[in-house]
This record gives sequence, structure tokens and C-alpha cells, in this order.
Amino acid sequence: EVTRDFTHNLPKAELHVHIEGTLEPELKLKLAQKNNIDIGQKTIAEVEENLKYDDLASFLAVYYPAMEVLVHEEDFYELAMAYLKKAAKNNVRHAEIFFDPQAHTSRGVKFETVINGLYRATVDARALNIDARLIMCFLRDLSRESARKILLEALPYKDKFIGVGLDSDEHNNPPMKFFNQFCTAQEHGLHVTAHADVDQVNSLEHIRELLEVIGVERIDHGTNIVEDPDLVEFAAKQGVGFTSCPLSNDFIASDMKGKEVLELLAKGVKVSIHSDDPAYFGGYIGDNYYALAQKYDLTKEQIVALAKNSFAASWISEQQKAFYL
Ligand code: HPA
Ligand code: ZN
Repeated sequence: EVTRDFTHNLPKAELHVHIEGTLEPELKLKLAQKNNIDIGQKTIAEVEENLKYDDLASFLAVYYPAMEVLVHEEDFYELAMAYLKKAAKNNVRHAEIFFDPQAHTSRGVKFETVINGLYRATVDARALNIDARLIMCFLRDLSRESARKILLEALPYKDKFIGVGLDSDEHNNPPMKFFNQFCTAQEHGLHVTAHADVDQVNSLEHIRELLEVIGVERIDHGTNIVEDPDLVEFAAKQGVGFTSCPLSNDFIASDMKGKEVLELLAKGVKVSIHSDDPAYFGGYIGDNYYALAQKYDLTKEQIVALAKNSFAASWISEQQKAFYL
């Protein structure tokens, strides 16, 4: 029998968590007060009252305004440290954490403020037995010029993050919009991943661009790939990872996408389970494993296979991988 202890205590890698999506109502209120920002909410109940969404666009409309409480380096440090402590309780041993610099620089916060605060938390996470790394995401609903600008600003700090990703509103924002930025990142030795959110318009075309043209190492969500068996075979052969987030999917698509996850697992694709925006979708990574296990009656072997895939699809060294696999 699969228990909550089993899913939470299993050693795992977190590959799909947005640090801004770990901003819990309590910390949001605390930072708002500290930084003298009127967010229009004074109690945890009032913040929670505001958490209403049923698709990607309605989620993002709540998600971005909440970030304005993050101003100083210390705020980013505190946000990341709070997440890492929760991750440690979920027995996360390795974390590759997304951040959205443009969501902060567009409000006048300096890139260096964001990265220095987050990076310092990843260093301190070693004391929690977590190997934590950062992935800088481009906001795909902003212009390619904006993405180019933030990448050039970030490159002097490239020893503080290990890759680039692509997130925010996918509608009418195909991966190829950012082809040049992905190429530049790859030329600088950075890893590359990108979101292909569930059930989006042109989902398969976006996945095809990512796999065949850009050559990403992972796709975040991306489970719509099951609609094209040839692409699935290609992804399996290339060893591309797919980071699926059951509780997020349940909000965004009213479906945990467990059937798709099991199909990919059976076909030898490196699919794994993650948390996306845990403060918004009702649970951290252990809760995501447990919810999926309950709903789809997963065996312990399937759960262990998913956890092993999280290390296999991670960007740790081959030596570290051998330890976990
Ligand atoms: N999709 C796109 N952008 C996001 C998400 C997501 O699930 N979470 C945070 N930013
Ligand atoms: Zn995501």
C-alpha cells in the first residue's frame, strides 16, 4: 500500500518549481508589511479568497501581481529559504528552481538583487542536504527583445544559474519566438528547458519545435505529446525529460494527466512528478506524488520509477546520477 510517508520520504529531485509560486500567504503578508506595500489584503483569509483560477490565463492574472511584495535581496533569500526547508521535508535531494527575472526587473528590481538573494539561499541549502540550482525563465508573453535584454544582463552571472526555461502565457507565443535566445544560451553552455503547458492551442506544434528545432533537454508539462506516437518515440530515444505537475494540471486543465504520465512511463520516456506553484495549487512535491498515486492507484514500483526519472532527467553530474539510479 502506498502511504503518504512513502511518497514524502522517497528521495527525489524537484525539476519544476517556480520560486515565485512558493510564496505562501503568510510570507506575502509579512513582506507587504515590511516593504510598506498595500496589496489590498490584510489577512490570510483575504489572500486565500483571491486564489481563484481555472486555467493558465486566470492563474497568471493572480500570480504576477502577488510578486510585488518581493523587493530586496533579503526578500528573495527568505522566499527561497522557506521553499528549501519545505523541500527538505519532502526529501528533495536536488532542486532545479525556476525564477522569472522579468517579472521583477519590469517593476524596477535589479537582476542582481534577484539572483544574489536566490543564489545565497541555494548555497545555504547545502546545510539541509539539498543540492539546489537555478534556472532563469523567459516570459514568453513579453517580446523577444525583452528576452534578449534579460539574457544579456544575466550572462555575467552565469556561474549562478545552470539553464534557461520558458514560461508564462503560451497562447500565441510559440517556442520559436525565442529561437535566438535559446541558441545564445546553448552557446554559453547553459542547459535548456521550456514549458509546453497542458492542453494549449498548437500544443503539438510547440512540442515539435522544442524537440526537433531547438533541441531542449526537457519539456515542462508537455504530456500532450502522447497524441503523436512518433514524437513520443523520438523523445524516448533522445532521453528528453517531461516534468508533469498533477495538482497544477488539476487546476489548469481539470485533469491530473495521470493517464498520459503512465503511458509515457510505459514507453520509456523520462517523465517525472513535480510541484509547479505549490503555494497556489495546494501542495508541495510529496503531495503531488501522493495525489497522483491515490487517483491512479499507482504501485510502489511506478512511484519509484518516477522518482528515479527525476534524477535521470536532472542536470546533475553522471557520477551523482549513478548514486541515485
Ligand atoms: N505555466 C506557465 N507559466 C507559469 C506556470 C505554468 O504552469 N507557473 C508559473 N508560471
Ligand atoms: Zn511551470
